[in-house]
Amino acid sequence: MNWLQLIERRVSVRQYQENIDESTLAAVRKICEHVRNYNDSPLKFYLLPGTEVHQHQKSLGPFGRVWAPWYIAAVAPADAVSLFNLGYSGQRVVLELTALGIGTCWLGSLVDWSALGDSLSLGKGEAVRTLIAWGRKLEPLAEKPGRRLPPETIAVFPGDKDVKYPWRTVLEAVRWAPSAINGQPWRLWFGADAVHLYSRPRRITRRYCPIDMGIALCHLELACQQLNIPGRLGEGEHPRRKGWEYWASYLFD
Ligand SMILES: Cc1cc2nc3c(=O)[nH]c(=O)nc-3n(C[C@H](O)[C@H](O)[C@H](O)COP(=O)(O)O)c2cc1C
Repeated sequence: MNWLQLIERRVSVRQYQENIDESTLAAVRKICEHVRNYNDSPLKFYLLPGTEVHQHQKSLGPFGRVWAPWYIAAVAPADAVSLFNLGYSGQRVVLELTALGIGTCWLGSLVDWSALGDSLSLGKGEAVRTLIAWGRKLEPLAEKPGRRLPPETIAVFPGDKDVKYPWRTVLEAVRWAPSAINGQPWRLWFGADAVHLYSRPRRITRRYCPIDMGIALCHLELACQQLNIPGRLGEGEHPRRKGWEYWASYLFD
């Protein structure tokens, strides 16, 4: 399966089978150890069994708790640059797990983060910023993907730029990225020299915005690469738009 197919296939999975075999565990560990980062910010992924995490999860009655056999705890500093990197690398891990037929769900709430950090004996300034629940999906429960904003709300195609292939495919890859509370803060500007990535966060999800934007950056890059659009991620000259905050671009070669 290629990256575009993996992006299309991924949905958040919230109900899991109990067990994971040793070879799958080893494969996931390897993926976490070798994942590519976007920048030089410190980032560590810890593999934790459910037994270590469940005691630190909170619940709102029967709702909200995602009970998985294993979790990935992402440890990073709290600044936006580090969390942007966390989202980018974490989503690469998520898509590689999708390729192995493993279900995942990012978790940003209902966890006692400081108790979880204490159990990992983290250093100064380090804290668990998010979890990724993972395991084999409980069949036959099919998870429905969350709804998405319409393309015209999240993307600008200035001038007469072709809004069909390949740009429409790039747009769809970003549009179907996961985001906290399905807030979908990302916005795209399809320019002559680059595709620019911006955010327009809602107040309720502002805190998760850097992670959401890193996830979107991961989808933007992988879609462009899969479509053989020569270029690379970076920051460059970009148009300004009221209410939009610039993050990065896919700069064409
Ligand atoms: C940073 C982040 C935090 C999230 N936190 C939670 C969470 O605490 N609980 C949960 O059930 N889903 C959580 N999600 C999953 C989103 O609800 C989900 O991505 C969104 O509704 C879109 O659905 P989809 O992932 O199935 O496409 C989170 C997603 C992200 C990116």
